[in-house]
Amino acid sequence: MSKRDPATLRSYRWYGPDSLRAFGHRSRARQSGLGDKDFFGKPVIGILNTWTDLNSCHMHFKSTVESVKRGVLQAGGMPMEIPVMSCGESLTKPTSMLYRNFLAMEAEEMIRANPIDCAVLLGGCDKSTPALIMGAISAGVPAVYVPSGPMIKGNWHGQVLGSGSDVWGYWDERRAGNLSEEEWKEIEGGIARSSGHCMTMGTASTMTALAEVMGFTVPGASSVPAMDSNHLRLAAEAGRLAVNNAWDGPGPGALATRESFENAIAVDMALGGSTNAIVHLLAMAGRAGVDLDLDDFDAISKKTPLIADLRPSGRFLMEDFYFAGGLSAVLNRMETILHMDVPTVNGRTIRENVKGAKVFNDEVIRTLEDPVSADGGTAVLKGNLAPDGAVIKHSAASPSLLKHTGPAIVFDSYKDLSERIDDPELPVTEDSVLVLRNAGPVGAPGMPEWGMLPIPKKLLEKGVRDMVRVSDARMSGTSYGTCVLHVAPESSVGGPLAAVMDGDNITLDVEARRIDLEVPKQEIESRLENNSRKDARYHRGYTKLFIDHVTQAYKGCDFDFLEGTERTPEPEIY
Ligand code: FES
Repeated sequence: MSKRDPATLRSYRWYGPDSLRAFGHRSRARQSGLGDKDFFGKPVIGILNTWTDLNSCHMHFKSTVESVKRGVLQAGGMPMEIPVMSCGESLTKPTSMLYRNFLAMEAEEMIRANPIDCAVLLGGCDKSTPALIMGAISAGVPAVYVPSGPMIKGNWHGQVLGSGSDVWGYWDERRAGNLSEEEWKEIEGGIARSSGHCMTMGTASTMTALAEVMGFTVPGASSVPAMDSNHLRLAAEAGRLAVNNAWDGPGPGALATRESFENAIAVDMALGGSTNAIVHLLAMAGRAGVDLDLDDFDAISKKTPLIADLRPSGRFLMEDFYFAGGLSAVLNRMETILHMDVPTVNGRTIRENVKGAKVFNDEVIRTLEDPVSADGGTAVLKGNLAPDGAVIKHSAASPSLLKHTGPAIVFDSYKDLSERIDDPELPVTEDSVLVLRNAGPVGAPGMPEWGMLPIPKKLLEKGVRDMVRVSDARMSGTSYGTCVLHVAPESSVGGPLAAVMDGDNITLDVEARRIDLEVPKQEIESRLENNSRKDARYHRGYTKLFIDHVTQAYKGCDFDFLEGTERTPEPEIY
């Protein structure tokens, strides 16, 4: 059989044979108004679209998908649009993280169950990127990722506003009595001015960049703002690539390798990316059978300079980053650090794709010799409070707090925190360490972004804007502050966080990579033995499945039965 023999296509099993079943499939294609020239013998490109009215970051996907279809048709393929769950960051409760694995399962099953030769994945808002790629890796069918692109810059009274980061900052000012109701409303109307994902270097910008680093996108695609016409041009290119890859392109397993994960971690550090990237990359690596752990992140962080001056760690936003040369220019600048010869979806290596890519603004993208900081943005901590690890984005923390000992103020849940944090009687000082527990993968459930605990109002009024905070939660990629996150094992499964009592001293030492509870070992063990754990509140449905099977943060919070490279068999067609 020749390389372009239709019988080599996966979809041929549905449409090709002279059988009763295939007759049914073809007759139903004709029911859709399709004829021989539309579909028979052509690669079928399944476009997984995460558009929904509930996700404002993906509003433009109705037009993006038309560009993908245009590219597919130009290249001689047949586009089939498939709506899938969106898990938008803003509205999905209790947290979109609860549904990342749900979307990953949906993507995998939709690809496998249908006559798809290559998938085009439309995502961008936080969890949608790792979810779609996890699903594609497990399905084992070639896939091209189309990132939504960031929204344009926010604006209020001439000041630039960044997604998330400025919400937290101005909310503190509001609580401190420094902003009127009218001003607060003006900010509400100015901070999200177009479709596209958050335009700080939050989780969405981080994960779409890392998808590109790993070779899943058309080169340059992740930096292009959603409203820039280049977004549509690159979407069409993704459609054309998908048709080509349906015949003989690299499968996701050829892209998700140890080398490409090392590249992704290094670029995450160079960009000052979201702490959430750690959880997502671990989960993606688990699907690809790549041995990756927290120590890899710390080791790569220590030797990778932070060169992108982007909020929340730095000053600029994604639109500035795009005009400064974007990710292609960063990758070119990092050629001595990265594995440059890894493959990408267009059949070329990263080296070939970024050759000649220039930086146009050295303020936004610094050189390796003159970085924002000499090491990466994230550190991995261990200690008796986090035997299986914790993380801190020290690039977005207060330098004065990176080595700190203080007495704990403990909150047992976010509800408890909300009810007491502004209590004038709360015995809190700026030296206290705020602790939130029962906020992990099982405890919350879903490990919400509660880890940037609010500063108590009475301290805000005194001008305090940062404190050491410790939790088994995550925090938004747009957040900042001295927040120790992802403490594992989490308190709800018996981790040492459950043993902390008000007044216990906690020591954070980022340079030594330690987080410790200054309580004797025996006392900690005794407290944990006597700790009466609450029964899970969820006894049915997807949430029950989640808490029964989710792994801890240091393993990526995937479901235990989805890890590994074993494939579900291709469907039988009788
Ligand atoms: Fe969608 Fe931030 S809310 S990326």
